[in-house]
Amino acid sequence: MDLINPKAQAYAEKYSKQEDELLNEIEALTLKNHPEAHMLSGTLQGKFLEMISRLIAPTYILEIGTFLGYSALCLEKGLKPGGELHTLEIDDQTAAMARENFKKSKTQNKIILHTGNALELLNTLNKPWDLVFIDADKTGYADYYQALVPKLKPGSLIMADNVLFHGQVLETEVKGKSAKAIQAFNEMVSADQRVEKMMLTLRDGVYLIRKK
Ligand SMILES: C[S@@+](CC[C@H](N)C(=O)[O-])C[C@H]1O[C@@H](n2cnc3c(N)ncnc32)[C@H](O)[C@@H]1O
Repeated sequence: MDLINPKAQAYAEKYSKQEDELLNEIEALTLKNHPEAHMLSGTLQGKFLEMISRLIAPTYILEIGTFLGYSALCLEKGLKPGGELHTLEIDDQTAAMARENFKKSKTQNKIILHTGNALELLNTLNKPWDLVFIDADKTGYADYYQALVPKLKPGSLIMADNVLFHGQVLETEVKGKSAKAIQAFNEMVSADQRVEKMMLTLRDGVYLIRKK
């Protein structure tokens, strides 16, 4: 399902141009060669992640779901000098490709890639996260959220991707493991009084969740 009018999408992309050569190269190569290219955030969402990160100017960013490193390279642009971005990826081969992309980055920012299952890695990482981007397996979202929220400082922001799940959560009967998991996640966040939230209809839906 095309959630966003393709003309509006193209128009918004035209006026939100990505001028970073490395990001454009990663996007173009992924679209050309990778069977799961749809997983990459892409120009418009990438610029959005960069903008939010620049506004917050975080010292510690956590990303769950690295893929080829595109969104990490967008998010790291807002890091405070001396800040760190930690990104988690379960697949060794994918992590190796992301590592190569991180090496090509001209910024001196610190990107630390951890390979393994995100939920296990989360228990070993105890940084005071300012900004979190959840973009891995959809059935894990609720667990990542519950593990993180109690530890977050007031004002920290979580962004959760794909919360419209290709439009499948809009159906009268939500079917499929991932769509059901996202629907349950959205219900859980919506009812959570510890956070302020708004759902953005950008690309496949991004839930902005701020700890009170
Ligand atoms: C949608 S992609 C991430 C896209 C990336 N954030 C971007 O926008 O460029 C999801 C990634 O999460 C990884 N992943 C899936 N389950 C995971 C888990 N349990 N722990 C860590 N990473 C996981 C997948 O291998 C995949 O590379």
